[in-house]
Amino acid sequence: MSQKVESTSPQNVAVLVFPFTSHPSSLLQFVRSISAAAPDMKFTFFSLSRSNSSLFSGSGNRGFDNIKPYNVWDGFPEGSGNPLEQIELFFDRAACTFEKAIEEVEAETGHKFGCLISDAFLWFSSDIAKKMHIPWVTYWIGEQRSLLVHIETDIIREKVGAPGQEDKTLDFLPVFSDEFRASDLPKEIVFGNLESLFARMVHKMGEKLQQQATVVAINSFETMDLKVTEELKKRLLNKLILVGPLHLTQPVVPDRDDKDGCLQWLDKHKPASVAYISFGSSGTLPPIEVAALAEALDEGGFPFLWSFRGNKEDFPKGFVDRTSSIGKIVPWANQVQILNHSSVGVFVTHCGWNSILESVTGGVPMIGRPVFADQNLNMRSVEVVWKIGARIEGGVFTKTGAIKALEQALSLEQGKEMRHRVGVLKQLAQEAVGSDGRSAEDLKALVEIIKS
Ligand SMILES: *[C@@H]1O[C@H](CO)[C@@H](O)[C@H](O)[C@H]1NC(C)=O
Ligand SMILES: *[C@@H]1O[C@H](CO)[C@@H](O)[C@H](O)[C@H]1NC(C)=O
Repeated sequence: MSQKVESTSPQNVAVLVFPFTSHPSSLLQFVRSISAAAPDMKFTFFSLSRSNSSLFSGSGNRGFDNIKPYNVWDGFPEGSGNPLEQIELFFDRAACTFEKAIEEVEAETGHKFGCLISDAFLWFSSDIAKKMHIPWVTYWIGEQRSLLVHIETDIIREKVGAPGQEDKTLDFLPVFSDEFRASDLPKEIVFGNLESLFARMVHKMGEKLQQQATVVAINSFETMDLKVTEELKKRLLNKLILVGPLHLTQPVVPDRDDKDGCLQWLDKHKPASVAYISFGSSGTLPPIEVAALAEALDEGGFPFLWSFRGNKEDFPKGFVDRTSSIGKIVPWANQVQILNHSSVGVFVTHCGWNSILESVTGGVPMIGRPVFADQNLNMRSVEVVWKIGARIEGGVFTKTGAIKALEQALSLEQGKEMRHRVGVLKQLAQEAVGSDGRSAEDLKALVEIIKS
């Protein structure tokens, strides 16, 4: 007796990945949290082979046999030159590439997909899902406010207008105080080349999320910012689901050993005494700022752990040797574990959303040096909404600016106050993912939506 094939199964979920920067690992973390709540679902993770191989190699995917990678676009040119060019090249053909891959998998397995999950950037997924008559669940890897500004793009463009208006306050938007400035916005919203593919992509995303998404999920929690959450829920007609912080329930992929002994090294330090420094997996600082920060650490004698992906030649001469008794420089660090260690007193960060969230759950205040995308906006919220960190003076590292910021965070009264406030948020984050917490409830609701 053969089973009827070709029936739509809510248990089969197609996942479309935006295969750049930290997007794939964040989306995979989201899919894993759904998988943990619904172990009988099967997920096909459609992505470029290079991102598939780094996420699914080794023990990274152990315990998740129901999440299978599927490589799209053989022969996508290897990364050379400008990352934006890569994104444009990809995006140009992404819709038909994904559609074809979905058809291939359905033909191979004899099962139709019952739900489409995609990175929010991939707005065209709405049309694919519509054609397939299945729900579109979309995932935004940032926080509430950074999504809201994409939804409000038209009004922002109308009110702020052309370059030269960088200092204009954003208080014409609900839930934005006059401490937010136009210069805090991602370039794609007002001041960049608004005709670029990327700018058009995020603009379109704002529209599609409102009009066509079944669910918009984000890796944040309601009490991180109640007012903005409420506003965003109104804008998204209650399709918003907050499932974070995901790293409290699903380890960041892939799991790697602490082979440099960072945690042991931290064990030897006093509580809240070490500066942990990292600028994200794809970010590096200009050489002059690397040198300035290094000089500050050296001269101020601050204990530091630096997850460093740049060029060591940018360090001042003799820096590594001179600071070997107070500092540790490693090529990779398990950030969640490090920020959760009691010896870490401050996180020097580029203000990517995952980094902020990990700092919050570790109870660690921040010194921010935002670089691009939503990082300036995140920085502003860190400073003026949550008051759990400070921007580096002038927005770039100088030796004196860095010494001042480190002293404040590690020893002065401001540092203690920030630590207290971040501790309150940490508590709220833990409650959110706890058994009756809002994020846990939202995740359950999401599983029901996918199954129905
Ligand atoms: C994805 O990458 C993994 C790990 O490198 C590999 O084993 C697997 O064959 C790849 N999947 C596809 C569909 O190419
Ligand atoms: C953080 O550390 C505490 C113990 O100090 C532990 O119970 C908790 O699981 C850790 N959290 C993470 C996310 O590693």
